[in-house]
Amino acid sequence: MKRPLVVANWKMNTSLSDAVILANSIKNSVHDLDAEIVLCPPFVWLYPVLEELEKRPKNLHLGAQNMWFTSSGPMTGEISPVMLKSLVKYVIIGHSERRKNFNETNDLVNDKVQSALENGLTPLLCVGEMKKMAEFTEEKRGRGRPFKADTKFDLMTQLLAGLNGVSKDDAEKVIICYEPVWAISKGNAESRNAADGGYANAVAQKIRNALAKKYGANTAERMTVIYGGSVDEDNIKEFIYQPEINGALVGGASLKTREFVKICREAAGRG
Ligand code: PGA
Repeated sequence: MKRPLVVANWKMNTSLSDAVILANSIKNSVHDLDAEIVLCPPFVWLYPVLEELEKRPKNLHLGAQNMWFTSSGPMTGEISPVMLKSLVKYVIIGHSERRKNFNETNDLVNDKVQSALENGLTPLLCVGEMKKMAEFTEEKRGRGRPFKADTKFDLMTQLLAGLNGVSKDDAEKVIICYEPVWAISKGNAESRNAADGGYANAVAQKIRNALAKKYGANTAERMTVIYGGSVDEDNIKEFIYQPEINGALVGGASLKTREFVKICREAAGRG
């Protein structure tokens, strides 16, 4: 069995002191867990969080929420992989909020994935559909018609375009984050709308089948596919025991130490 991976996406949240306190309390609570844990603070808090995590357990890592794909140059406001690689091991690429709000295209996402790999960073490639796929809903799972969307938010287009030009060896270094856009919380409890575990697993299976077609069954089997979208302490169990899901990408619930640690413990089978 793959070691579960839990990624905390803090998005544009936390003050400097919140970030340091959160990192510190997570550090003190996850050392005994059989899971890899990645904290992705806002760019400006990466360095102070890294300092806070100086003596951290081996299973706790840092990640960035985004990057540009060239090494340096006239790109006001952007951060390069060369800058990031001395601070982080992971980088989130193609999050739906960036695809939606910053018009990131599949080609740009692919440039970023390739550049992350060239720079020794582990890309967390996010893919996800805008609307629930009828074929996998509880009523129609297994029968209905495939969902058609514009290709920017077409799951398979995102997956295959994101991995364009990525070799079989490098593919194993890419983490696929399946995040249905409709399931991502809007930052408050009322808007929580996670996929059900069966749906998420069915789509993860579809993703793995596409990976098998592209890279062969063994490579696809070794790749890590995680679920994200309103994961919390109450529903993590629903996802973590699905055969095709190897972990979780957690947004809102990663900002509360107690809840995030509980999610990590459940993911590690220690809930
Ligand atoms: P959420 O965010 O857990 O708040 O839904 C997940 C994400 O967008 O990465």
